[in-house]
Amino acid sequence: MRVAIAGGTSPTLGASIVSALLSTDGRYTPVVLSREGKIHSFPPGSLLHDVEIRYVNYHSQPSLVETLRDVEVVLSVLLIPGSDWVTAQVNLLHAAEEAGCRRFAPSEYALSSQAQAMVDLLDAKNTVWQAVQDSVDRGKIDAARFPCGMFMNYLGIGCPDEGARAEALSGFQEGPVLVHLEDPSSSWVEVPLRADGTVPSLTMTELRDVGKFIVAALDLQAPWAGRELGMAGDTLSFTTLIALCQRFTGRSVEARTVTEPQLQARLETIPSSQFIERMECQLTIVCCRDGSVVNPALNRLSSVRPTTVEQFMQRYWGSHNRK
Ligand SMILES: NC(=O)c1ccc[n+]([C@@H]2O[C@H](COP(=O)([O-])OP(=O)(O)OC[C@H]3O[C@@H](n4cnc5c(N)ncnc54)[C@H](OP(=O)(O)O)[C@@H]3O)[C@@H](O)[C@H]2O)c1
Repeated sequence: MRVAIAGGTSPTLGASIVSALLSTDGRYTPVVLSREGKIHSFPPGSLLHDVEIRYVNYHSQPSLVETLRDVEVVLSVLLIPGSDWVTAQVNLLHAAEEAGCRRFAPSEYALSSQAQAMVDLLDAKNTVWQAVQDSVDRGKIDAARFPCGMFMNYLGIGCPDEGARAEALSGFQEGPVLVHLEDPSSSWVEVPLRADGTVPSLTMTELRDVGKFIVAALDLQAPWAGRELGMAGDTLSFTTLIALCQRFTGRSVEARTVTEPQLQARLETIPSSQFIERMECQLTIVCCRDGSVVNPALNRLSSVRPTTVEQFMQRYWGSHNRK
């Protein structure tokens, strides 16, 4: 079964999904869609060297349809700045329908739709989903959305052992969010508080487990039927997270609590042009409202045993402390 991954050149999520598909012994064949005009080179030995790459124009419906004719499932991991993120994925959806593809999954991999509605940048995912849901309702295609919480790989930032850090990051290059272990002399975690002053929880999933969950979803015989098939590597309270960080880094990790009113005040000071900073602040507000927990619907339907935060910290930080 051919599975197209739009944006599958991504070294994080794309690599995770392609690699999981390649490990199914030919049950699924990944085909990566990459935009025309962008030159990628995949040296021998690299993940994508032997994977078919189809160069596409996300704005040309006829060519997209031709590209997808022999494809059964289209998965998007596109990340495009601006409104084109919606346009390209809706075009892809309609092309998949016309080409007769069976299933489609948009580039979600974040939180529930209610939580995403509270974050300007992520609300685009909900706009795409409305179009997908409409296609599902009209029987045009089967589809699901796959929230996974925060990538656990953020916890690899600051890992002192270079080899362990590279493996922990798994291609991830973003800066720290919420958890700050990058400075050995000042490690801290921003702890959002609920309105009643208690500490909420958050879901984190290791990037490589996302690919495994996607294979499990492809294996499902029952229609995805427009469901939110959430995956959860681990769901833990910020208090437990800090305890694990302290245990495996061997450092004192400060809890810097913050309330929603304080975050709202912070948000006021962030100009709309700084959309990443705004997103991070809004995501922290989401935590105050318990929106950072993913319902593990796909865990319940699969036999994937994902990496927990404890296992992750032990694997990448613990070995360093034993030296
Ligand atoms: N849960 C989390 O903690 C978390 C963290 C980060 C990201 N995410 C989510 O994961 C998904 C993928 O993110 P990512 O970081 O893996 O993405 P990424 O690597 O930045 O981009 C994915 C692919 O999108 C394509 N692309 C980029 N700009 C484009 C453009 N202007 N037009 C068309 N295609 C373009 C590129 O493919 P080509 O160059 O081959 O065309 C690229 O490889 C997103 O939905 C993102 O929101 C979640």
